[in-house]
Amino acid sequence: MIIAIDGPSGAGKSSLARSLAKRLGIIYVDTGALYRTIGLYVANKGIAADNGDAIIASLSDITLELAFKDGVQDVLLNGEPVGDTIRTQKIAAYASAVSAIPKVREFLLDTQRNIAKKSSVIMDGRDIGTVIFPNADVKIFLTADDVSRAKRRFDELSAKGTLTTLEKVLEEMRERDKNDSTRATAPAIPAHDAVILDNSGMSLEETELAALDIINSKLN
Ligand code: DC
Repeated sequence: MIIAIDGPSGAGKSSLARSLAKRLGIIYVDTGALYRTIGLYVANKGIAADNGDAIIASLSDITLELAFKDGVQDVLLNGEPVGDTIRTQKIAAYASAVSAIPKVREFLLDTQRNIAKKSSVIMDGRDIGTVIFPNADVKIFLTADDVSRAKRRFDELSAKGTLTTLEKVLEEMRERDKNDSTRATAPAIPAHDAVILDNSGMSLEETELAALDIINSKLN
């Protein structure tokens, strides 16, 4: 079984997917982490986020693997776990930039598809229902208004001790949304057969119940 959860940043895809994966006893794959890891690699090499040629050239120096420990995913970058080093605003911006490059998306295709050959998965990203698994059993496009999404992201960052403001997070999020949804390759838009779930003002529990309704109705 493959469940695809796509949508813009801060919609709560990862919280929802993690919680559904636990409930359904399947693995949760966070595909944004793969783009973030490539972003991390090029940022550490001092390559500018808009230097497409250098980013493409660096792909041949990168091997990526997904590792799971107690259901929690990490990405191994040339054998080394990246952990939380990919969870910064700088790396988020890099991830958004590298993800617009078709060769980068191609590079990550097999890693994403192979994981579902071995087990049932719930996978979150931007193009899971459109490109990675057009035949997914269930496709949910999770979204919320941008202020609600920015508030969630701001709370997450503040809880981690990152100093920022809601205005800055909102501005960066709008920039990233624009990049991700207007790029030529695999833009972050709903698949024609995705169910759109707008969770503005909904708690995680309410979102999970709504998602379970969608899953049950698709699977029955
Ligand atoms: O979900 P996230 O914020 O960790 O994703 C980081 C970036 O990666 C995001 O700006 C868009 C990109 N991304 C993508 O293009 N396709 C995916 N399947 C997942 C993420």
